[in-house]
Amino acid sequence: MGRVRVALLYDILRWEEKSFIETSKKLDVDIVPIHIPTYYGRVGDGNSLSTDVDIAIQRGVSFYNSLESTIMFESYGINVVNKSYTIMVCQDKLWTTSLLVRNKVPVPDTYVAFSHEVVPKVSEKLGYPFVIKPIYGSWGRLLALIDDEEDMRTVVEHRTYMHNPIYSIYYVQEFVKKPGRDIRIFTVGDEVPVGIYRYSNHWITNTARGGKAVPLRIDPELEDLALRAARSVEGQFLGIDIFEHPEKGYVVNEVNAVTEFKNTVAVTGYDLTRKVLEYIIGLVRR
Ligand SMILES: Nc1ncnc2c1ncn2[C@@H]1O[C@H](COP(=O)(O)OP(=O)(O)O)[C@@H](O)[C@H]1O
Ligand SMILES: [Mg+2]
Repeated sequence: MGRVRVALLYDILRWEEKSFIETSKKLDVDIVPIHIPTYYGRVGDGNSLSTDVDIAIQRGVSFYNSLESTIMFESYGINVVNKSYTIMVCQDKLWTTSLLVRNKVPVPDTYVAFSHEVVPKVSEKLGYPFVIKPIYGSWGRLLALIDDEEDMRTVVEHRTYMHNPIYSIYYVQEFVKKPGRDIRIFTVGDEVPVGIYRYSNHWITNTARGGKAVPLRIDPELEDLALRAARSVEGQFLGIDIFEHPEKGYVVNEVNAVTEFKNTVAVTGYDLTRKVLEYIIGLVRR
């Protein structure tokens, strides 16, 4: 069998993208790097690619670049890991939560309000403290912990001055009193190969914000939960955020469709890059 040719769609070469390129040299894979910001093509015409590829992996940092370049490659009939539907669903915290709930995956108690006028009504339902998040976003940006009415008024006021209509939609969630850590686990196809705890003194534990990664043993309950979350969004390679809720047990916070994993590899020694490439080879050869 010939070598599998994988387009790597990227905008910045981070550790993960370099790792895919390096690891491919040890496997039956040729990586064809595609720099999204300087890419152009004719919709539906795979001949716009200078080389043939069998499949693609999406690694763009910018959400719009990731989504739209995935859609372009799909227009050529090339499968992308993850597909555009999954990328779109995972970017939208409400859409993700909706699919999780419909698939009976436990989530934090979550409300959505469509204007600042009704946020106080949500606060009556949830009680303080609670969390307000942008529907779109990552790396813990623009998250607000609301301890009292004054916090609520401040955040609502800030948001009314943001000129993007997305900020008039409020994704409002119970504040989960976590044991000083969150869980991040990775799914690759039907497998859950590796995960970490993210410890932090701050309630936002993203490693991009200083959360400390510690290896995690994946128990059968976590494995089952991660796979059900992955199927809910039809994802192939995902990073799933889970909280240990003091009353409800494991709850899924969010699902990331273009995920960083440098810290996970660093603390666990698990070769997640190789796992993903082997999975992709399997998709092409099956
Ligand atoms: N409802 C919540 N209760 C407690 N901590 C939360 C809650 N929501 C988010 N966090 C913390 O903030 C981090 C970032 O929130 P998340 O929803 O994952 O947004 P992002 O897409 O920015 O990563 C989470 O990993 C978690 O540490
Ligand atoms: Mg997150």
